[in-house]
Amino acid sequence: MFEIPHTLGRPDISLVICTLDEAASIGRVLGGARAALSGRKFEIIIVDDSADEATGDVVRGIALDDSRIRLIRRRHGYGLASAAIAGWDAARGDLLAIMDGDGQHDPQVVARLVAQIGEADVAVGSRYLAGAQTGLSGLRQVISQAGTLASRALIGAAVTDPLSGLFVMRRDWYLAARPRLSGIGFKILADILACGPRRPTVVETPTRLGTRIGGDSKLDLRVMAELAGQLAQARTRGLIPARFVMFAIVGATGVLSHMLALLALTLAGAPFWAAQLGAVAVAMTGNFFLNNALTFRDLRLSGVAMWQGLVGFYLACAGGGLISEIAGTGMARAGAPWMVAGLAGAVCAAVWNYWSASRAAWGHPPAAARSSRAFSQAVPVRIGTPRA
Ligand code: GDD
Ligand code: MN
Repeated sequence: MFEIPHTLGRPDISLVICTLDEAASIGRVLGGARAALSGRKFEIIIVDDSADEATGDVVRGIALDDSRIRLIRRRHGYGLASAAIAGWDAARGDLLAIMDGDGQHDPQVVARLVAQIGEADVAVGSRYLAGAQTGLSGLRQVISQAGTLASRALIGAAVTDPLSGLFVMRRDWYLAARPRLSGIGFKILADILACGPRRPTVVETPTRLGTRIGGDSKLDLRVMAELAGQLAQARTRGLIPARFVMFAIVGATGVLSHMLALLALTLAGAPFWAAQLGAVAVAMTGNFFLNNALTFRDLRLSGVAMWQGLVGFYLACAGGGLISEIAGTGMARAGAPWMVAGLAGAVCAAVWNYWSASRAAWGHPPAAARSSRAFSQAVPVRIGTPRA
């Protein structure tokens, strides 16, 4: 049963497995992956974002006896896509792979994809080819299918499952796509396919998604908001940042909470001006906390910094209100129909709010990255400049 690990030379395959509280399953998953790839030169990189050391300890224990297994331990809360990128950035193989750490993916499929990739850029384990199964139920299945259709249309690549979490790609393709990857959210494959220098050539193999061994799934509507942002950023080549889309989605929910608060306050007998003021406060406060949990999840504020951030957010949004007023009124004066003028005002305010609130509340981008000198120093650190 003993196999001598390949410790000399470079691995051909780097398999990244991201984990968030997968202590119950990661041991079995690693066993399965090692068995499936035995006979090949490979490394397995686990990127763990869990809040505690349970998952990391299992991996450390296994890595002690097998130098092909490496652990990247991060503080929790960065998300799956950024974890995958951290893993591939550290990878050494010519083929870069990913699979889930919860036992839902069959490691044999990784070996099959490696055998199949040939001259293609990406080989995908698809849940939608004949003979495949999604393992999802009810609402999840609907969300997942809607996301699949939308991304397929946007990416324009012939791939039946652009949201799959089980795939293999060439290192060249990854490095070419790397500078444009948003690193936001869950759906890394859609980003990888959309951010390359041209349409990727893709081969697919059917896969059945098993049931998780333990823990919980992290797929929800937040994931879909992140996907929308990711795709917008990829398709506009970064002109519309992923975060802006999420910020705008949060802003749209603010309209709803504004109207609900307005209704409640009016019913409670408040005069309109007071009800309106209260509704603005409710909507802004709600938006701040939603953005803190969603749009700026990776920079999430807590404690004193959170309350300071809230004040910064109020101030930024006050500026947005003023801009909306000036732009909207200006356009209406210039003869634009009221709907157009109103919409233009709202768009200006959204752009301003995003620009100023991300700086005032979340310090994004960091002051250092804003000065051009610091930026030019930071560039060599980024891995993956596309080849000419
Ligand atoms: N490091 C890290 N950080 N890992 C994470 C994070 C994170 O923030 N979030 C999730 N993971 C890990 C989980 O521990 C698991 O190993 C894997 O990523 C997938 O997460 P699940 O929560 O099990 O996702 P799922 O089963 O709902 O989604 C699967 O199907 C999707 C398609 O519908 C995954 O394969 C997705 O990648 C895939 O897009
Ligand atoms: Mn899962």
